[in-house]
Amino acid sequence: FVTPGPQGPVQDREVEVPADGRSLMKAAVDAGIDGIAADCGGSLTCATCHVFVTEPWLARLPPVSADEDTMLDYTTEERRANSRLSCQIRLTPELDGLTVELPARQY
Ligand code: FES
Repeated sequence: FVTPGPQGPVQDREVEVPADGRSLMKAAVDAGIDGIAADCGGSLTCATCHVFVTEPWLARLPPVSADEDTMLDYTTEERRANSRLSCQIRLTPELDGLTVELPARQY
């Protein structure tokens, strides 16, 4: 997880989790990553699990669903081309090494 710092993005926390299909949001919350609020617990109604996914992992993710696309319009920090909701990212072996940037705020 990369967090915004005064001099630019800073590598913050590395979390080891099994690639068992749990969501990135769940892995982040379980690891105590502050930048993920996840108020709705993954039911795709809060947009407070917003992350920016870096390449090459962005291209390995399934496409944004219509519901995720709608919710991405409600993120506090402006949506970017690489914005995703971490509750919709399932951790699989193909995502080994996944790095995401956290927005400056979720509210
Ligand atoms: Fe609420 Fe992801 S946890 S939309």
